[in-house]
Amino acid sequence: MSKSNLMNSYKRYPVTFVKGEGIYLYDENNEKYIDFVSGVAVNALGHCSPVIKKAIQEQSEKVMHISNYYYSNEAIDLSELLCKDSDFDSVFFTNSGTESIEGAMKICRKYGNSQNTNKNKIISMKNSFHGRSLGALSITGREVYKTPFYPMIPGVIEAEFNNIESLENAFNDDVCGVFIEPVQGEGGINAATPEFLKKARELCDKHNALLVFDEIQCGAGRIGTYFCKDTFDVLPDVVCMAKGLGGGFPIGAIVTTGTASNVITYGNHGTTYGGNPLACAVSKAVTSTIKNAEFLNDVKEKGNYLKEKLSQLQDKFDFITKVKGLGLLVGIEVSITPSLITNEAFKNKLLIITAGENVIRFLPPLNVTKEEIDLFIERFTEVLKNVQLNLNK
Ligand SMILES: Cc1ncc(COP(=O)(O)O)c(C=O)c1O
Repeated sequence: MSKSNLMNSYKRYPVTFVKGEGIYLYDENNEKYIDFVSGVAVNALGHCSPVIKKAIQEQSEKVMHISNYYYSNEAIDLSELLCKDSDFDSVFFTNSGTESIEGAMKICRKYGNSQNTNKNKIISMKNSFHGRSLGALSITGREVYKTPFYPMIPGVIEAEFNNIESLENAFNDDVCGVFIEPVQGEGGINAATPEFLKKARELCDKHNALLVFDEIQCGAGRIGTYFCKDTFDVLPDVVCMAKGLGGGFPIGAIVTTGTASNVITYGNHGTTYGGNPLACAVSKAVTSTIKNAEFLNDVKEKGNYLKEKLSQLQDKFDFITKVKGLGLLVGIEVSITPSLITNEAFKNKLLIITAGENVIRFLPPLNVTKEEIDLFIERFTEVLKNVQLNLNK
């Protein structure tokens, strides 16, 4: 079988996975891997979750796709579920994180343009990641993703993440929106301080701009609250979602409150697939499981457990310099090339990925058990011992 027809957009590991169950992936030779990548924070309920299989099966026998020119009960139900007890009142469904970002950028632009012709600037954060389309790249704060694709869209001002003075300096009345990841994922698992997010809210109110949280990686229960705003106690006008929202089935959402909910009107925005009944039925099953106080408390507890175990490893291995993260969005900073660890992990059938320049990221499914975390730590310890041996050679 030739793999050469797949475009060279990823440096893939030499493995083809054919089956998954819970935290495990199986290759063509039935070799079993522990997966702490979860499709990059997507498989929130693990691989081939019974909840998801049931939803797909049942909905596929009813109706899978209609057009957004008509209502479906599944889209209505999911929008209600997302808004319930949440402070949000309106939802636009998309198919991916990038599309959620693009839609949110359009909401900000229209919001600004309807006030005056200069109000079209967007503030975004250094070190952020928002996706690969030209709009999303334009507000992404890492040059490595942008360099081959200039020019970016105009009107984007970068501020330093977690630096209140820098945010204040970036602001004026021409700003229509501010995009922040409450916890930067690709940038290296960096949590915003509550003070920074509160100041962003305050400045948006003062300058009549919309505050947008990119919760594509850190939302949908990943840090132990369904929406990140509940961890930080700051209400944005718009939240961008995807990844864990569908647990493996592609779906994203733009969730809004107050005036932000009334910006988009007939003909302003659209999507063919976004919010189709199959995606919404799966997401409803996933969301009902996750948006539950007990489940979310468990995520926090297991996240603390994982961090505690990683801190014990920090005591043993000098090259681990920091353990960080919230809930089950966890990372370790290392003083060696991170791929030395991820490649050794792969050899030991352990899947983990890097983030930023010097961080290893751990993204188990949200329903991972403590026993499975123990198993992971046991194998990861062996990996680190091998890395240490290789370093000493
Ligand atoms: C914070 C954040 N925003 C946006 C995106 C883009 O999402 P997608 O790849 O679904 O388009 C990602 C993907 O990694 C992300 O982590």
